[in-house]
Amino acid sequence: MHSVSKSFGSRAVLKSASFWAKEGRITTLLGRNGSGKTTLLRIAVGELRGQGGVVRFRTKAYERPRLSVLARGGLYYLEERARVPSTFRVRAQLEFVSRRYGRRSVDEAVGILGLESLVDSKFHELSEGEGRRVALAAAVVRRPKCLLADEPFLGLTPNNRALVADVLRRLAAEGAAIVTTGHEVVPLLELSDEVIWCAAGTTHGLGRPEEAKAHTQFVREYLGWHIP
Ligand SMILES: Nc1ncnc2c1ncn2[C@@H]1O[C@H](COP(=O)(O)OP(=O)(O)OP(=O)(O)O)[C@@H](O)[C@H]1O
Ligand SMILES: [Mg+2]
Repeated sequence: MHSVSKSFGSRAVLKSASFWAKEGRITTLLGRNGSGKTTLLRIAVGELRGQGGVVRFRTKAYERPRLSVLARGGLYYLEERARVPSTFRVRAQLEFVSRRYGRRSVDEAVGILGLESLVDSKFHELSEGEGRRVALAAAVVRRPKCLLADEPFLGLTPNNRALVADVLRRLAAEGAAIVTTGHEVVPLLELSDEVIWCAAGTTHGLGRPEEAKAHTQFVREYLGWHIP
């Protein structure tokens, strides 16, 4: 994303935000509540229109990106409260995704995410954290080239955070460009190859997590005392 701007009414949430998601790497957007992380991802997939800037995906530049087009090229957007339709039970739903777009078997995805005991439920019957793992399984089945995962650790127990972190690492090792956000700074910094700080409507590439932890202003304004 290059020089993206977005105002809601008179409020400029993004003035000029830029970052790259790179093949095989995990890039994490960190920043205060309301700093525009979700807005940036929604602009990337065309759910929101920025007033300025350009989104590049693989070889093309889009002034008006559309998820249906980008998805065909391998983009997957896992929104903060991603849901899976409840029409069918989880296994049937994943099989539907797999038949239509799949590059990985449902059994493999179920195994990777430890969903064996949940596949006979319907999505709406699951707890928040269970649902989050099922939503990630749908992404795993599709084997995306680029995965935008907004708050993938939200509401997960420590062992499930570790599981989700392993899954994201695995997708990156297969060559996917991964973007994450969240406020669970310990697992996020452990997971990331690169940290982008969103503040005051712009983005600052802070480099590797160790470099982010040594960035005085980032520590003072975002990490606070909780330097992991
Ligand atoms: N549709 C909208 N209409 C008006 N204002 C909006 C809209 N969407 C987002 N905003 C505002 O834009 C700002 C950025 O929101 P955004 O959701 O991108 O923040 P965030 O960095 O993802 O925060 P969090 O860490 O809480 O998830 C917020 O102040 C929010 O109120
Ligand atoms: Mg958000």
